[in-house]
Amino acid sequence: MPMSPEFERRLYPVVDRIAAHFGTPFHLYDEAGIRATGEAVKDAFRGVPEGFREYFAVKALPNPRILQVMRALGFGFDCSSVPELLLSRRVGARGEDLMFTSNNTAAFEFEAALADGGAILNLDDIRLVPKVPRFPELISFRYNPGPRRTGNAIIGNPVEAKYGVAHDQIVEAYRRAIARGARRFGLHTMVVSNERNHRFMVQTVEMLLDLMAWVSGELDIRFEFMNMGGGLGIPYRPEDEPLDLAALGREAAERIDRFRERHGWAPRLFMESGRYMTGPHGVLVTRVINRKEIYRTYVGVDACMSALMRPGMYGAYHHITVPGKRDLPPAETVDVVGSLCENNDKFAIQRALPPLEEGDLLVIHDTGAHGHAMGFNYNGRLRPKELLLRADGAVELIRREETVEDHFATLRFAPDVWTP
Ligand SMILES: Cc1ncc(COP(=O)(O)O)c(C=O)c1O
Repeated sequence: MPMSPEFERRLYPVVDRIAAHFGTPFHLYDEAGIRATGEAVKDAFRGVPEGFREYFAVKALPNPRILQVMRALGFGFDCSSVPELLLSRRVGARGEDLMFTSNNTAAFEFEAALADGGAILNLDDIRLVPKVPRFPELISFRYNPGPRRTGNAIIGNPVEAKYGVAHDQIVEAYRRAIARGARRFGLHTMVVSNERNHRFMVQTVEMLLDLMAWVSGELDIRFEFMNMGGGLGIPYRPEDEPLDLAALGREAAERIDRFRERHGWAPRLFMESGRYMTGPHGVLVTRVINRKEIYRTYVGVDACMSALMRPGMYGAYHHITVPGKRDLPPAETVDVVGSLCENNDKFAIQRALPPLEEGDLLVIHDTGAHGHAMGFNYNGRLRPKELLLRADGAVELIRREETVEDHFATLRFAPDVWTP
């Protein structure tokens, strides 16, 4: 099921008034739901012998109010860029609260990661080892299993993925890190995205454990942690089965326990989930502004792809409800569209919905991860505001909408010229 019944109960009685007060469109996030998922994740992995920690993938929902909620849950942050690092530090995260997983990394990014208390560096390539300006004691590498594993549609086939250190480079990568002074070690991978079959993640845990056994034997080192990446899936469609989180936690713990019995030591387990933590706890609320009947019926809304790329980019399904007409059966088949000059600017294609008129509010589900964050400004279309439905029932503006001034802020209207 997309949006939970609890979230619906919290939102629907007040959504009209929220829209009237703040104006549409907006993404709204449900603090109580995010917290409940955070607690459920901690609970599921409680059995991991050396302990578990979630590093929330900041890219999924980079808003400091959301990061505060994650921090209160005891989570760290997975950062892939300098702004994500700085944002995480703004909410108090430091040092080993931060994991810096970049790729095609530039020198200034290493400098930023190592500054201000540092971060766990997760290197994406063996050739980055000599490029780290001051080599830290704790180092991790991102592993790409290549033909040893298959990925899925969003993340792609590992053989074709640009990420990570290849299998035949991994021992040498740690050897070179040791030569530069590394004494503490982690291992990371991410091979699937939006995967609801928990067995894929358990296979990832097994793969990392096998790899750690091999590398630790070759180099006489132990690993402090393994990071299974993100990629836990959510049910975007009403008929989708949810991921079996309890089974994932139990089976991962069991594999690590077995490893400990065999080797006399075991790593901590880290995860860097984004979508699973916040995806179902966000919605995009938008208002119908036009109807158009040509070869199809188009329902035009006041949000567009600048607010949510996933349908246009991945053909992703996002469930839509009409809070004011939830008791009405579907009456027409329509495309729900934004105003961008791109024909894939559609939130729904040939979707059966209740009869829609100008002024109706639509709730587009599951926009809490990789939603607002992925938005862009093509066509001069601006990104909408973000609201937090707090656990106490109040609604807080946590990011205002972009303005034309924001959009023009990087332009130079007076000449700024270099001449040879
Ligand atoms: C390295 C890395 N970690 C974590 C994530 C979060 O993935 P998800 O939100 O699907 O859990 C991503 C997503 O792009 C990623 O690239």
